[in-house]
Amino acid sequence: MSRQDLVIRDLVVEYQSGPNTVRPIDGLSVEVPAGNLTLLLGPSGCGKSTLLSCLGSILEPTAGSITLGGVETTGLDRAGLVDHRRNRVGIVFQSFNLVESLSALENVALPMRSAGKKRKEADARARQLLVDVGLEERMGHRPGELSGGQQQRVAIARALALDPPLILADEPTAHLDYVQVEEILRLLRRLADEGRTIVISTHDERILPLADQVIEMQPKFAAGFDGEGEPVEKLVDKGTALFEQGDAPDLIYVIEEGSFEVVRTDPSGESVVLATLGSGDCVGEMGPLFGLPRSATVRALDAGRVIGHSPKSFREQLGVDTLNAVIAGRRTP
Ligand SMILES: Nc1ncnc2c1ncn2[C@@H]1O[C@H](COP(=O)(O)OP(=O)(O)OP(=O)(O)O)[C@@H](O)[C@H]1O
Ligand SMILES: [Mg+2]
Repeated sequence: MSRQDLVIRDLVVEYQSGPNTVRPIDGLSVEVPAGNLTLLLGPSGCGKSTLLSCLGSILEPTAGSITLGGVETTGLDRAGLVDHRRNRVGIVFQSFNLVESLSALENVALPMRSAGKKRKEADARARQLLVDVGLEERMGHRPGELSGGQQQRVAIARALALDPPLILADEPTAHLDYVQVEEILRLLRRLADEGRTIVISTHDERILPLADQVIEMQPKFAAGFDGEGEPVEKLVDKGTALFEQGDAPDLIYVIEEGSFEVVRTDPSGESVVLATLGSGDCVGEMGPLFGLPRSATVRALDAGRVIGHSPKSFREQLGVDTLNAVIAGRRTP
């Protein structure tokens, strides 16, 4: 493994979502020297996974450049991209992404086999990597037979398979208890101390003391947030979400037709219906007004029609009193 510095310059990522443009990353410049562990910290929807996808060359940014070890990864041709993804970056995904039907050993050997290494050589290295992450006793187990922390360690071992200089980890402690978190943190710190360049996304503040550098990311909003946009009419099919919990906020909605349910899912995955709303009700005001991610999902129970307002247009058309009533939770002012 060679030491390679990471340089991000003026990075911009835009997504088109319906009539709105979401720009979760807007002019980000950061340097991560080799041997340095950098944390991306911020609430859901602020663009952490988006940035990691760009660093892993899974997503092409809208503008700006990313350079690893002096090579610009944003301008690579197909062959260059394949080489970058395979040999220069190891990614630990938010949901582990292990193959359920394969043992821990086979999962870790997989990238080496795909890169054309002989089975014996791949297995030997996979075995060593699993020993390194403390899983010597669990090599033959499938992901379903491993705890969250053990699966996370298999995913880290797999990311290290081809010994890449850059390691990206998306929420590596999300599903772990504090004992497992400690193991993963030690492991990630060791990888950095060995000279790798490490970027980790998290909203887990327990990871903070581990970092050499913290990049605080703020949620960004759709164009409508500036208050420039005219009200827009949206037709929503039965069963379709108007917006999902965790989304970056864009508009405040007034329901014209149909009924909608407001559903919140807690961290354990349990969903609760908070309200059922109908014609004349307003929904989704807190996010756009206060810059918060959506705190619940709003789904159409039958075919619906809504008018989406920016906070400014909402205020202008429906009045400050209406706005205040809605904020106070009286949804039909
Ligand atoms: N493929 C896509 N199309 C449209 N919008 C997208 C897409 N992927 C992400 N977004 C939006 O971009 C913003 C940033 O998303 P991202 O997944 O990077 O956030 P995050 O910080 O990783 O959130 P979390 O902590 O929930 O994982 C969000 O508003 C999201 O809705
Ligand atoms: Mg994410």
